[in-house]
Amino acid sequence: QLDGSGEGPLSGKTVLITAGPTREAVDPVRYLSNRSSGRMGFAVAEAAARAGAQVKLVTGPVHLPTPAGVERVDVETAEEMRQAVTDRAASADVFIAAAAVADYRVPRIAEHKLKKDTDGELHEIPLERNPDILAEVAAMTDKRPFSVGFAAETRDLEKHARKKLERKKLDLIAANLVGRDRGFDREENELLLLDQQGSQALGAGSKRALAGKLIAEIAARLDGEAS
Ligand code: CTP
Ligand code: CA
Repeated sequence: QLDGSGEGPLSGKTVLITAGPTREAVDPVRYLSNRSSGRMGFAVAEAAARAGAQVKLVTGPVHLPTPAGVERVDVETAEEMRQAVTDRAASADVFIAAAAVADYRVPRIAEHKLKKDTDGELHEIPLERNPDILAEVAAMTDKRPFSVGFAAETRDLEKHARKKLERKKLDLIAANLVGRDRGFDREENELLLLDQQGSQALGAGSKRALAGKLIAEIAARLDGEAS
């Protein structure tokens, strides 16, 4: 079933997902971003729809087709992603933050393209912190969805992921190693799940296979909450 009304472990549930990078403008022709392809988030959206959920996917700029049965909202900046998520979070049963949100943005975007001759040599770009979308949702006091994060790390995977689980007050975090030849912009991934109970390896596999396993784990935890 693909429309949230049918059978499946997540039937009757609404799942809100972020995916892809965000893009933070420097001037009208330049931006700061990262290597996220959006594939993991899109695979999670597809798996949630297959599990019978009604799925809303808020995505930064990616080159991916929308999975069947998924309602897609395209955004560019972290602030736009935050607004799209805030508008939908209270009606979601589950929030899964798979986006690689830019941690910083440029506080004053230049109105015109920066020019070397008239604007002078540019040695630094001033930055300010973007809001933490996931931490904001997990901190909701009313109608807080079951909140799931991702942690992309280049080292000390479990230590950093557990810190994020605690700091953002998440129900679950999926941790993966990233680097030049793993994680971002690839078809394969390897996930480690952490929650208050402990840790559990989901193993290596295609992003599609891992997304299915992650959704099954989330569905099992929602069942546990209900009983
Ligand atoms: N996240 C978010 N909003 C942000 C930053 C991160 O929603 N502004 C979410 C990501 O989607 C992910 C989780 O928080 O699910 C962890 O993101 P990550 O970049 O690994 O953690 P940070 O808290 O940004 O820490 P750092 O990048 O310094 O490791
Ligand atoms: Ca970050």
